[in-house]
Amino acid sequence: MKAILCASENWGIGNGGGLLFHIRADMRFFRAQTEGGIVIMGRKTLDSFPEGRPLKNRVNIVLTHDASFAREGVIAVSCKSGALAEAKKHDGEVYIIGGGEIYSLFLEDCDRCLVTKVEARPEADVFFPNLDESPNWRIAEESELFEEDGLKFRFVTYERTR
Ligand SMILES: NC(=O)c1ccc[n+]([C@@H]2O[C@H](COP(=O)([O-])OP(=O)(O)OC[C@H]3O[C@@H](n4cnc5c(N)ncnc54)[C@H](OP(=O)(O)O)[C@@H]3O)[C@@H](O)[C@H]2O)c1
Repeated sequence: MKAILCASENWGIGNGGGLLFHIRADMRFFRAQTEGGIVIMGRKTLDSFPEGRPLKNRVNIVLTHDASFAREGVIAVSCKSGALAEAKKHDGEVYIIGGGEIYSLFLEDCDRCLVTKVEARPEADVFFPNLDESPNWRIAEESELFEEDGLKFRFVTYERTR
C-alpha cells in the first residue's frame, strides 16, 4: 500500500480544510497514479473535493465515525480494519490519499510514500510525519526540479527501510 501526498518543506499538507498548493503537474501525477485503483481517505478530505464528490475511476473508501453517513459512489467504513477489508474485495493498487488523520493511521501499513515536495512553507494546520527524520524511511527515487507558476517541486519516492 502506498501513501500519496503533496507536502511543503516542513511537511505541511493542508490549511483551513484545503490544500496548500494547486499544482497542475501534481494533479496529473496523482490522477495517473491512482486511476483504476482503490483510494482510502478521511471524511474531511472527501468533503474538501468539489461538491464532496468521490474521485472518478477509482474505488473510494471513506472513514467516518458517522454510522448514518451515505454518499453516492462512496464506500463508508467506521474503522481501519473495515477499510482494509473493503479494499481487499477489489482489484488494484491501494493508495492512502489523506488527510492528516488518515495518513497517520495507515502509515505503518505503507511500504512507499509518493511525495510531491514543494520548495515553499506556507502556513499549515495539518502535517504529514517528517520522513526525512525517520529512520524507517529513505529516499528511493527523486525527480529533477520542476517549476510551475513560480513554485519549485520534485516528485520524491520514499521507501520503508524497516
Ligand atoms: N497535501 C495533500 O496531499 C493532502 C491530501 C489529502 C488531504 N489534505 C488536506 O488534509 C486536511 C484534512 O485532513 P484532516 O486530518 O483534518 O482530516 P482527514 O484525515 O481527511 O479526515 C478526518 C476524518 O476521518 C474520520 N476518521 C479519522 N480516523 C478515523 C477512524 N479511526 N475511524 C473512523 N473514522 C475516522 C473522521 O470523520 P468523521 O468526523 O466523519 O467521524 C475524521 O473527522 C485538509 O486540509 C486537506 O486539504 C492534503
